[in-house]
Amino acid sequence: MATWDATTVIMLKRDKQTLPDDAIRWFIQAYTDGTVADEQASALAMAVFLNGLSGDELAVWTEAMINTGTRVTHSGIDLPLVDKHSTGGVGDKVSLILCPLIAALGGMVMPQLAGRGLGHTGGTIDKMEAIPGWHPEMTPDALKAALLDVGAVIAAASGEIAPADKKLYALRDTTGTVASIPLIASSIMSKKIAGGTEYLVLDVKVGRGAFMQTVEEARELAETMVGIGNRSGVKTSALLTRMDQPLGRMIGNTLEVDESVATLQGNGPQDLVDVTVALAQEMMDLAGVPGDPAAMLASGGAMAKWDAMVRVQGGDPDAPRQYAANRQELLAPQAGFVTDMNALSMGLASMRLGAGRARKEDAVSFGAGIQILKKPGESVEKGEPVLALFADEESRFIGANELLDDAIQYGSEAPEPSSPVIERIA
Ligand code: URA
Repeated sequence: MATWDATTVIMLKRDKQTLPDDAIRWFIQAYTDGTVADEQASALAMAVFLNGLSGDELAVWTEAMINTGTRVTHSGIDLPLVDKHSTGGVGDKVSLILCPLIAALGGMVMPQLAGRGLGHTGGTIDKMEAIPGWHPEMTPDALKAALLDVGAVIAAASGEIAPADKKLYALRDTTGTVASIPLIASSIMSKKIAGGTEYLVLDVKVGRGAFMQTVEEARELAETMVGIGNRSGVKTSALLTRMDQPLGRMIGNTLEVDESVATLQGNGPQDLVDVTVALAQEMMDLAGVPGDPAAMLASGGAMAKWDAMVRVQGGDPDAPRQYAANRQELLAPQAGFVTDMNALSMGLASMRLGAGRARKEDAVSFGAGIQILKKPGESVEKGEPVLALFADEESRFIGANELLDDAIQYGSEAPEPSSPVIERIA
């Protein structure tokens, strides 16, 4: 490998040049080792944010991120390995439902290596930790045993999977370089490819509560990630789904576990059911497995897998979960219909209530969050509760309410209903 220096690589990308393959490989490895400093990696991230990466540069960049760690092999499992990844949204508890649903449908296994939430979006691991006793750490042997026994596992991604991304993502988070298509695509796909999946469905969120605000941007991100996956031997497709308003009626850790369980019992809100079923169907189509995910979900047939999945990691699905000590309602200022609900404001308000973290080292409150009593399209009377807010400390309601004042719109007519799934990219 040629020897490079960080300044030369940064200046090449600053000047809109194509980075040589060995320059990319050297930079990513040297940053992971600590040879390249944070400020140099920030400068390159900003140069990529502004000037982009070509398809070939991106393929090498992603492969270099994968090669900084281990690639999981899942030997001894004969069934197709399927997975899904969401680019992050508000109230997005789909993984909690999809994993047991896929296990119940059978014919495939789903090892879901998940993360914690940051900012206004929640994280699957934080939600699962709201179940008393449940722990996210699994040794490779325990993960394999759980996959063979239950058929699906949600576990924390080990530090050995794409360690370059751990450093780079934390840096991007503080340097205004998160919302870059090549950087998001390489971050997500390096972790998923290194995680050893064979069939991957991406849930690319579009709208105010998502990284991608427009369908065009989301389509470009989806096509980029699908291209990286298929080039590296992971059969990949994507669904673009709406994230203008929160998914379902619950935001917050315990609240989202409760809503996931209700959905697994066949009583889920329609938008959440629609997105979950569409993703399950897409995973089955990719892996060539027959079955009817909508019927399975509606029948409550995946509940036994949920119980088994929780118990295998020390959790007690029947134990009382933690709820917040304080509840406050937000009332409709007028009669009519709820016409809009801003997912970003709701996610940030939920974070201020304690459900999310502003910095990586913050703890989350399991009980904090928001219950949506009236979704867009539903009618309200003046003074009727639209939201219920939950927090451990009453003082948290003030900051949340500041954000919620303008988050909800009302009108005299119901808005046109729109399907939560926008399009499929294969
Ligand atoms: N999720 C990731 O894992 N990485 C990103 O860059 C953005 C969202």
